[in-house]
Amino acid sequence: MGWLGRDVITVLDFKREDLEVLFTEALNMEKYAKSRLDILNGKVLALAFFEPSTRTRLSFETAMLRLGGSMIGFSGTEATSMAKGENLADTIRMLDSYANAIVIRHSLEGAARFAAEVAESPVINAGDGSQNHPTQAMLDLYTMWREFGTIDGLSIGILGDLRYARVVNSLIQALSYYKVKLHLISPEPLKPRRELLEFMSSRGMAYDWTDDPYKAIGDVDVLYVVRIQRERFPDPMDYERVRGAYKVDLKLIERAKPSMIIMHPLPRVDEVDFAVDSTHHARYFKQAGLGVPLRMALLKLILGGDHE
Ligand code: CP
Repeated sequence: MGWLGRDVITVLDFKREDLEVLFTEALNMEKYAKSRLDILNGKVLALAFFEPSTRTRLSFETAMLRLGGSMIGFSGTEATSMAKGENLADTIRMLDSYANAIVIRHSLEGAARFAAEVAESPVINAGDGSQNHPTQAMLDLYTMWREFGTIDGLSIGILGDLRYARVVNSLIQALSYYKVKLHLISPEPLKPRRELLEFMSSRGMAYDWTDDPYKAIGDVDVLYVVRIQRERFPDPMDYERVRGAYKVDLKLIERAKPSMIIMHPLPRVDEVDFAVDSTHHARYFKQAGLGVPLRMALLKLILGGDHE
C-alpha cells in the first residue's frame, strides 16, 4: 500500500517492505537533518500532545521545520477549549480542518485510532496509553539497522517495565517482521501482558524471560532498556514495590560482548547509571538524535514531498 496519506496507528499497519522504504529514506534524510530541504512548503502539521513529551514532539517539530513546513498545536489542554469541556472528537475535527496531518499523544489506549476515524487527514500515533508508540519502534529498528546493517539474526535483550511500556509493545510488534532472538528481562510483576505473549507465540517469535539481567547480558547484541512507567500504575504502592528493581551499570556491562549496544527510548530515570554514558556501548542519545531524520522520512512519505 505504501505510505502516502496513511495513518500510523500501530506498526502492524505496515509491512516489512514499508519499514525498509522508510529506513532508506531516513538514511537519505540524515544529509538534511541539520540543514533544510524545502519539500513540504505550505504544509501544516498539527501536534496534539495530551501527555508530556520532549523527544517525540520536538523531533516531529524539527523534522517539519527542516522540510520547510509549519506546525500548530498544544502540549496539555489547559490553554485549549477542552478546558471548557470540548470533547476529543470536536478538537480533532478542528485540527483536521486546519492542518495536513495530525500527530497525537494521549493517555487513553485507542485514542489515536479514534482520532483517525474522525479525521480525514493522516493521523500519526505518538503514544496511546500503554498500547502503542509506533514511530518510536520505527526509530528503534532504524537505529539497529544503522548500527548492524541488518536486524535479522540479532539477539536483543529488552530490560525493564515490559508490562506498561508502550514502546516495548510496539518494538516487539516491529521485531516480529524479523528473525531475532529475544531475551525479555524484568521483575516478576513487570512481565509482559498476556496479549503480548500471545502475540509473540502467534508470530512464532523465539523468546525467553528472566528476572536477572546477568543471565542474559552475555548473549545480547542490543540491550534495550526502559524505565518503570510510574504514571501507568493503577496503584502507587505497586510502583513502590518495584521501584529501583534493576539498573544497568558498569558491573553489568563488563559481562557484555564488546560490540553490544545499549538503547533506551528515554527519558531515563535511574535505570541506567550515568557512568554508562561514556562507554562505547551507549547509543541512547544517538538513537534519540536519529528521531529527526526518521521523522523527516516519515513526513515526506506520508505528505508526499518530492525530491531526487
Ligand atoms: N521516547 C519518547 O517517547 O520520549 P518523549 O516521551 O520525550 O517523547
